[in-house]
Amino acid sequence: MTASLSIDDLLDAINETAIISETDINGKITFINDKFCDISGFDLKELLGKPHSIIRSEMHPSEFFSQMWETLKREENWHGDICNRKKNGEFYWVNNTIIPIFSNNDGKTMRYVAVGFDITDKKRIERELQLRNKEFDSFLATTNGFCKLNLDGHFLDIGDSFYTMTGYSEKELRKMTLIDLEVLSSDKTKNIWMKIQKTSKGAKKILKSFETDFKHKDGKIQPIEIIATYNHPSQHYFVLMRDISERKHKEIEQNNTYKQLHHLQKLESLGRLTAGIAHDFNNILSSVIGFNDLSKLAADDLPDENALKEEFIYNAMQIENASKRAATLIDQMLTYCRQEVETSATVLDLKPVLEKIYGMMRGVIPKNIAIKTTLSPDIFINLDETELYQIIVNLFVNARDAIEKPQGEISLSLNLSNIVSAQRCSACEKVIQGDFVEIAVTDNGSGLKAEKISRIFDPFFTTKEVGKGTGLGLSVASGIIHKAGGHIIVSSILNQGTTFQLLLPPQKNS
Ligand SMILES: Nc1ncnc2c1ncn2[C@@H]1O[C@H](COP(=O)(O)OP(=O)(O)O)[C@@H](O)[C@H]1O
Ligand SMILES: [Mg+2]
Repeated sequence: MTASLSIDDLLDAINETAIISETDINGKITFINDKFCDISGFDLKELLGKPHSIIRSEMHPSEFFSQMWETLKREENWHGDICNRKKNGEFYWVNNTIIPIFSNNDGKTMRYVAVGFDITDKKRIERELQLRNKEFDSFLATTNGFCKLNLDGHFLDIGDSFYTMTGYSEKELRKMTLIDLEVLSSDKTKNIWMKIQKTSKGAKKILKSFETDFKHKDGKIQPIEIIATYNHPSQHYFVLMRDISERKHKEIEQNNTYKQLHHLQKLESLGRLTAGIAHDFNNILSSVIGFNDLSKLAADDLPDENALKEEFIYNAMQIENASKRAATLIDQMLTYCRQEVETSATVLDLKPVLEKIYGMMRGVIPKNIAIKTTLSPDIFINLDETELYQIIVNLFVNARDAIEKPQGEISLSLNLSNIVSAQRCSACEKVIQGDFVEIAVTDNGSGLKAEKISRIFDPFFTTKEVGKGTGLGLSVASGIIHKAGGHIIVSSILNQGTTFQLLLPPQKNS
């Protein structure tokens, strides 16, 4: 026995599922069904007599609607997907058929009936898939490594570029698993492998790309981006990789540029502050020296029998000596600010200049500290000789101060050096490469912690007790060396010693 379907049942079923509307020939709404109200959020009263365009979204260009009207004017059915706007502003997609209804009298179009179905979810999935595919396509275009893995992470197939990327040969890789290439995170979790394994579970067939690091055979850390997929029937993972070292490198460079800029701004404001203090201090010191000279003259004029005469003169000499030390400090501050001191750079023949400095320092550095020199001849730079003295003397004094053991050693070397692998200046953090004159001072003293190295060039940074250090020596040195187009590299091992390499552009002897 078969149940017969009544017209009413059929209409009910259509009404439940289809979005139905009717308009007059000008597009004004004359009817909408409940489903239309449900989905659009409008009620019948709000829409009756209104143009159908009230629910238009901005998803379609105006040609879309003019073509639709042209079709309808030709008295043909229009069929297509259309995106409308709900009362609350959200969009919804309808797969619509618009049918012109003709008059029984003259056969002309009287009204239009639109019957549609909600396809919002289908459209969303389509869009997501499109985006995914685009992502996948662009990944494929720049991929430079791929491999196929079994369920334990063993390599089944390996793309040629994977060997360059990892540094291992095919034979070596065949004995390894992907886990052997991982850089384990601090909590020792196997990140890459865990993430890749997840692709076999759940609905996601393609793993969203992620960034991680590989251990290259030579020990280098290789930053990569990975995308993976799991093939269920054959039970293997297909993994695509691309080398992102360059991008990472650029990110680091950019970060460093910001840091350098910040540092320069800090130095500039400190410079201005220092210059101000130094000027004021200079004025005060001039009057101290002036009045002290007057007191000394007055003391000189006292009769010799006066018991206080000698004491007055002695005190005036002490004030004079202290004032001289203060004046030297002001000089250093002003040098740091580069406002007062005019320097005259000349081409210096370094070997004899450094020998002179060595001779001078030998007299000053205690005998328990040996000084070794290795100085190559005929090396020239363009610098003010006094400034070079100031820099090297400070490096020697710093080295002496860092040596606490009974047997110390300081070495001074001079040679031409070619910096091949890019190194960074410890003061300005720029990458240095090329040919330089290298003057190096090495000690076997206390050494410096890595985090301190970035601070020792800051003006007024000192770890010495009051009266022993000004904290200006290295900051002045850095200013002079950089102005001359050079850089400084500091390498240090705690409790073993420190090397300061001054790198300067070589000059021809003219
Ligand atoms: N050879 C070195 N070994 C260890 N620490 C050093 C060395 N040279 C410099 N330093 C550190 O750098 C700081 C700054 O040096 P500097 O600018 O010359 O100022 P100062 O010598 O007046 O303290 C020193 O106080 C010291 O902490
Ligand atoms: Mg010093």
